[in-house]
Amino acid sequence: MTHTAGGLEVLNRLWQRGRDFLGTETAIMGGAMSWVSERHLVAAISNAGGFGVLACGAMSPELLEKEIAGTQGLTSKPFGVNLITMHPQLDQLVDVCIAAKVGHVVLAGGLPPKFAIDKVKAAGAKVICFAPALALAKKFVRSGVDALVIEGMEAGGHIGPVSTAVLAQEILPEIRDIPVFVAGGIGRGEAIVMYLELGASGVQLGTRFVCATESIAHANFKKAFIRGAARDAIPSVQLDARFPVIPVRALQNQGTRRFMEMQADVVARFNRGEVDKDAAMLEIEHFWAGALRRAVIEGDVENGSLMAGQSVGMVTREQPTTEIIAELVDQAAAALDARMSLHTVATSTPLRA
Ligand SMILES: Cc1cc2nc3c(=O)[nH]c(=O)nc-3n(C[C@H](O)[C@H](O)[C@H](O)COP(=O)(O)O)c2cc1C
Repeated sequence: MTHTAGGLEVLNRLWQRGRDFLGTETAIMGGAMSWVSERHLVAAISNAGGFGVLACGAMSPELLEKEIAGTQGLTSKPFGVNLITMHPQLDQLVDVCIAAKVGHVVLAGGLPPKFAIDKVKAAGAKVICFAPALALAKKFVRSGVDALVIEGMEAGGHIGPVSTAVLAQEILPEIRDIPVFVAGGIGRGEAIVMYLELGASGVQLGTRFVCATESIAHANFKKAFIRGAARDAIPSVQLDARFPVIPVRALQNQGTRRFMEMQADVVARFNRGEVDKDAAMLEIEHFWAGALRRAVIEGDVENGSLMAGQSVGMVTREQPTTEIIAELVDQAAAALDARMSLHTVATSTPLRA
């Protein structure tokens, strides 16, 4: 530990709103990661004083119910559930969360439907949404959303076009009514302090937790993260504007190279009139189906999807979750300590004439 009680006190003041909102010791959310954020990692993050978030992904309501119960069996601390709004059974998934008394529901992957927001709130739980731009952030505040996550393009997985630093500057000074958590590219405590000082109530990290000891990700997946540098985690490339590709940030592998070749082949067949537009689009969309599971669970890191953020370069070894969170808190508090001692030196050293 390199910080003093003073640094920690300032940190606790800076993220008090986030801690109160989450009901946690630290305002660090473990962002939901499909296949990775299951009961073990989620409970470990919450037990370590963070806020774990279960990734529902494509789970059925029955599976989600089991996973929530499994998590509740491993922690008595608060945790959230992340639901993808495109899920065809979103309504039932919300019911499962409510019945299981989940305190916080994160609605991700597109505009959250009003019925889902209203239902969660009517049950007394909190709704968290992703705001990709200021106008939407304001709209969500008006719709009664309880907190926002703003996630920049440095993040792992599906990303928008704007960096975390720019989103933070655009949104944090404007949204004061509800807590805002910043995500994307955060690997160290000093960066947490930076966003808290800009007005964030807390942060959300994903990539940094993949190699937690408690994470069930396959050893090959973890190895790829430990080896990976920031520059290796790049967004998927769209070859032809007629066939849009949703950008996903991942480590490069044979799969990403084959994805380019496949797009070139499909576009060529479309241009020759051998395949119609819908069928061509479907081929492109289906390429990555099941690919994250293949990498995370089966360990096929060559053909699966290695979704990772740019902070992957700061993942250097497998570590217990408690250690990861303690390290982040220590770095944040030490940065605040350094600032305070600078201030003391500045105010106690007389200026020379
Ligand atoms: C492997 C992986 C899978 C992810 N899956 C999801 C998901 O299912 N739903 C979601 O809302 N975000 C997902 N994310 C984004 C994280 O929740 C989090 O916001 C992001 O990782 C934060 O940025 P960072 O990776 O720079 O820490 C995923 C990220 C990664 C790395």
